[in-house]
Amino acid sequence: MGNVTREKFATKFGVMMAMAGSAIGLGNMWRFPYLTAENGGAAFIVIYLFLMFAVSIPTMITEYIIGRRTHANAVSAMTILGFPKLKFIGLIAVFSAICILGFYCVVGGWAVKYLVDSVLFKFDSPTADYSDIFNGFITSPLRPLIYTIIFLALTAFVTKGGVRSGIEKFSKIIMSLLFVIIILMAIRSVTLPGASEGLKYLLVPDFSKINGDAIRNALGQSFFTLGLGSGTILIYGSYVSDKENLTNTAYLTSILDTVFAIVAGIAIIPAVFAVAATNGIAPEINAGPGLVFITLPNIFSSMPMGQIIAILFFIALLFAALTSSVSMFESLNAFYMESRGLKRSKAVLRSYIICIIPGIICSLSQGILSNIKIIGLNIFDFLDKLSANVLMTSACLLLLIFTGWIMKKDDVMDELSSHGSIKAPRWVLNTVYALIKYVAPAGILAMIITTILL
Ligand code: PHE
Repeated sequence: MGNVTREKFATKFGVMMAMAGSAIGLGNMWRFPYLTAENGGAAFIVIYLFLMFAVSIPTMITEYIIGRRTHANAVSAMTILGFPKLKFIGLIAVFSAICILGFYCVVGGWAVKYLVDSVLFKFDSPTADYSDIFNGFITSPLRPLIYTIIFLALTAFVTKGGVRSGIEKFSKIIMSLLFVIIILMAIRSVTLPGASEGLKYLLVPDFSKINGDAIRNALGQSFFTLGLGSGTILIYGSYVSDKENLTNTAYLTSILDTVFAIVAGIAIIPAVFAVAATNGIAPEINAGPGLVFITLPNIFSSMPMGQIIAILFFIALLFAALTSSVSMFESLNAFYMESRGLKRSKAVLRSYIICIIPGIICSLSQGILSNIKIIGLNIFDFLDKLSANVLMTSACLLLLIFTGWIMKKDDVMDELSSHGSIKAPRWVLNTVYALIKYVAPAGILAMIITTILL
């Protein structure tokens, strides 16, 4: 089915690295470590993995099936499958990618700026007020804007090279380096004196912390980190050959993503504890920008070899952010190329213009536009909430319902078995199908209902 002359990924490894690149991003570096530490350590990881296997991976496989079956972008896919009226599902997904990129490219810009600063050895003063420095930077009108523009230009540049020489080549190199860097950082972190307290804080299971919130956090995190409901898995799936075992790729991507997130936690939290103990202060762990752009520079400034570690860390942050933004950007490129008939270079330019507008607004919403509020949130936070809580969740639910209840079971099974070339026992495929049809939609519905009611 679909367009046979379209570009495809060249190798299995390339597919894995592109998928892992999309999944591994800011969510792994600044949200997972904090969520894990706050919500019961290893107990949280157990719940997280359970939900990932029961709900998130089946959802991922759904996107993958639609992409691979049609070899098309999220919007055209619905028409190719014979349901042009359901194009709106694809449009929600593409729109959610634009909203996420809006704030993601701003943070990517901050990462570029902090990488430049770390190379200039600016994180060398333990007494500097890194909170002031960060807030001064993000609230100024021009400087963060320039970095946002640069970050998105880097993203566009990678996708301009196309699937094989752009996305695949870039992901293979960058992801391999990223794994090496994060492992080096984890080794440095756990060998600091006093690191063991941090390791305990991160990993010792505490089941008493598992409540409704922890469970919702776990599911929300796994959705964001796998980029579900934004068309990115669908579009990468559409570049995968018909022989590839998509269930395996989905499981492997999720496992790599989780392992990376845990290693990132080990690279960050014990270091924060160790340096705090040396300085005789309480460790301060928080989520989001505060951790990465305030706490960590402070830690680097008073840690042995901290200046080098700072450079490695911000390279890792930038790499992780870039490979994720590339997948979102490509979701939009593919829409312009296939649904609007543009050449790749024109599509890239169009995507750039469409994404830089929310990017600029999000950047300014930290400073001069900070008094513009939507439901009490500035535009940056609003786009974050809108994409994660409304757009991605509803796109996922609709895609699951589509695959489980509207698509023919034979077609779904045909994709799951890669047209019969995978000799998996029937019960395995049936289990995956049941997860797609019943378990995953029920899990998402439960999350939506409890969020509204509680
Ligand atoms: N998974 C990425 C992260 O954890 C973010 C992302 C969202 C990527 C949506 C693709 C699509 O940072």
